Amino acid sequence: MTGKKRILSGMRPTGPLHLGNLHGALLNWVRMQDEYDCFYFIADWHALTSDYENTSMISEYTREMIIDWLSAGLSPDKSTMFIQSHVKEHAELFLILSMITPVPWLERNPTYKDQIVQLSSKDLSTFGFLGYPVLQAADIIMYKPSGVPVGIDQVPHVEITREIARRFNFLYGEVFPEPEAILTKTPKILGLDRRKMSKSYNNAIFLSDKPDVISSKVSAMVTDPQRARKSDPGDPDVCNVFEFHRIYSGEATCDDINPKCRKAEIGCVECKKIMAKNLSKALEPIREKREYYEARPQTVDDIIADGIKRAGKVAAKTMEEVRASVKI
Ligand code: TRP
Ligand code: SF4
Repeated sequence: MTGKKRILSGMRPTGPLHLGNLHGALLNWVRMQDEYDCFYFIADWHALTSDYENTSMISEYTREMIIDWLSAGLSPDKSTMFIQSHVKEHAELFLILSMITPVPWLERNPTYKDQIVQLSSKDLSTFGFLGYPVLQAADIIMYKPSGVPVGIDQVPHVEITREIARRFNFLYGEVFPEPEAILTKTPKILGLDRRKMSKSYNNAIFLSDKPDVISSKVSAMVTDPQRARKSDPGDPDVCNVFEFHRIYSGEATCDDINPKCRKAEIGCVECKKIMAKNLSKALEPIREKREYYEARPQTVDDIIADGIKRAGKVAAKTMEEVRASVKI
């Protein structure tokens, strides 16, 4: 592990992972395993910030998410995978950082303002929700990573993290390097109804979906809206099914279907069947690994315990430095 730059990222345990998560984040994480010393964790305390009223699923989702990670190719030999709430140092660093973080930095956080509007059914006027980025800053700088692979929506949080790190260093001495957000270009994948793929929109294909579930979801997908009948020519460029073909079916199939669709020589039903089959096949190795881990709960427990131990060692060392710097 020596010599490699460190990266860290996390996900909130909000439910089973879908293709949007796979292509948008997880496959990147997998690819980065060889080049970096990777720390990946489940942000279960962050899940509490918005779901404090109903906490019944958090621990189950946490475990399922780790199984999704392992199934998609994160390897315990290469990456440290852990659960935030099991490394208590995060809470201590959060507390200390909260002493030095000006409230206006949090109030003007675009994610904060946005979420309050988006999740209007929940009462998010809490101290914990406002402090979300402070906890995230603690998660990150604890491990002194050089980079944080995240989606564009998380960039403001990494920016606040850098500001908090800078302020800590200014007040107490250089302890924390300022991490960079690592943004990677990812294929855009929309939900079954062409909105953003999301569990809450009910338009997602999950990594854990079985082939029959995939078939029935794909058969309900929206295609070229102008194509009402099989005899109408279609336009693959505006068809979401074709976007999936581009990712899962390979060039030869795309080159075959494209003109046929335009000349109404292939119907959407058949086209979807081909796509569903290719998608199922692409997800097969993930499904197989999931079966492997589901049959071996002890192995999963051991991987989690080992990750927590490894993360805990780094966190304990950082906190010694922090306490010494703050003189407390
Ligand atoms: N806020 C992140 C999200 O919703 C999750 C998260 C919490 C995180 N702590 C983190 C991501 C630290 C990266 C680094 O996706
Ligand atoms: Fe889309 Fe395929 Fe139908 Fe063409 S044939 S509109 S690409 S589903």
